[in-house]
This record gives sequence, structure tokens and C-alpha cells, in this order.
Amino acid sequence: MEQLIEMKQMYKIYGEGESQVRALDGVDLTIGRGEMAAIVGQSGSGKSTLMNMVGCLDIPTKGEYYLEGTNVASLSDEALSQIRNREIGFVFQGFNLIPSLNALENVELPLLYRGMKSEERRRLAKEALERVGLSNRMTHRPAQMSGGQQQRVAIARAIAARPPIILADEPTGNLDSRSGSEVIDILRELWQEGRTVILITHDSAIAALAGRQIHIVDGKICEDVRISENSSKGYRKTTRQLV
Ligand SMILES: Nc1ncnc2c1ncn2[C@@H]1O[C@H](COP(=O)(O)OP(=O)(O)O)[C@@H](O)[C@H]1O
Ligand SMILES: [Mg+2]
Repeated sequence: MEQLIEMKQMYKIYGEGESQVRALDGVDLTIGRGEMAAIVGQSGSGKSTLMNMVGCLDIPTKGEYYLEGTNVASLSDEALSQIRNREIGFVFQGFNLIPSLNALENVELPLLYRGMKSEERRRLAKEALERVGLSNRMTHRPAQMSGGQQQRVAIARAIAARPPIILADEPTGNLDSRSGSEVIDILRELWQEGRTVILITHDSAIAALAGRQIHIVDGKICEDVRISENSSKGYRKTTRQLV
């Protein structure tokens, strides 16, 4: 499998001296194109910091990060934001929808920022909302929808421009268990269609729905578990203990 993401001895250090926090403490990680991986750990373990690095929203204090073979640290802010726009669809715990815009307008907004013409925008936004099962909610504003529906709008917004990578930080954190599993089902379908899906969660039951679980403790990756389907024996579990 081609390596999509390759991190070598990555550190993110906040503050100095006594109050210094090593949010990432020497992370080595590779994720291949087409994988679905969950990054799992307790609150404060460094998951969001890692997501920000993967998503090119922040750069490491020390270490190397290659995205599709490009060294991210060497890029300008503008080049970084281009990579983000083209390669990555973000989904957040708090949905981050704009309250005054309806579902269709929310999904169209990032396409507008990309300079896309209005007809094309509308077509892709409609297609994305249909994809997440919301064809009958296009003109609803966020306050007129359930949490699960709002998160599906956010997923539609993330996939409308068809980025190859979906990055979801605690996407089920604000949802009841039924809406949460609907959201995970959609992420799994996007993965089955060929996208790379990286799911960040503190919930090991949710993480278990991904084929790979990367466990993070105090900024270090301590375990990397892959469940691969094996036609003769059912499932095979491979665990790499790293600390
Ligand atoms: N901007 C920041 N300044 C200082 N410390 C931070 C900052 N962001 C995160 N941290 C610290 O880094 C650690 C990891 O945080 P975070 O990545 O948000 O964890 P998680 O997402 O797993 O809950 C925590 O101890 C947190 O307090
Ligand atoms: Mg977090």
C-alpha cells in the first residue's frame, strides 16, 4: 500500500520549563492510502494535536511529516492551505455549521471559497447531501435539524469537493448512540468507496469499527492494532506493542 501519511519522530511542545507540555512526544506513524484508521486515547492524550498535524492545520515543533511524499514543514502557509483544500475534508465534534445558512448553503460555502461557479457548486452540494441521506433537508437551517442530521450536513460539506482524505475529530462526541452509529456507518461507506478515513475518538467501541486502532497515551503511540479480513479464518488481529 502506498504511504499517504508518514511521520517521523514528531514532537509538539507547548510552553517552556516547568509548564512544558509534550502534546506529541516522538510520534512515528504511517497511514496508507485507502486505510480507515482510528486514533484512540483519553482526553488530553494528544489526539487533536495529532489531527491538526495530519490536517496541516499546524506544524510540529520538531520532526518530519510527509503527505504524499511532500515534506509539509517545507511548505508556505499558502501551499499548506492549498493542500488542505484539495486533499482533506474535515469533520469536527461541534459540526461548525453556520446557523444563518441552510444545509445546501453550508455545503456550498467551501466550494465558493475554491472559486467554483454557482451551477457546479449547487450540483456538487446537492450530490453530497443526497449521499448522506439528506435530500429532503436541503433548505433546513442547522437549528431545524437534529444533531445527527447536522453532523451529516458537516460530512456532506467535507466530501462535496471529493477530497481523498476524510479527517474526523470526535465526530460522534455530541451525538446519542444511534445518530453516532449512523455517522460512523457513513464514514465506513466513504472508506469502502476508496477514501482514506482517519477517525479520532476517546471511545474504544467507536474505534473498534475501524480496521486499525492507533492508541495514543501522553503524546506517544503505544499500540497499533489491525484487524484484517481473512477469507479462510474470518478475522486476524495483529497488535504491535510500541511502548
Ligand atoms: N495551544 C495549547 N497550548 C498549551 N497546551 C496545549 C495546547 N493545545 C493542547 N495543549 C495540551 O496538549 C495536550 C494534548 O491536547 P489535545 O491534543 O487537545 O488532547 P486530546 O484531543 O486527546 O484531548 C493536553 O495536555 C493539552 O492541555
Ligand atoms: Mg481533542
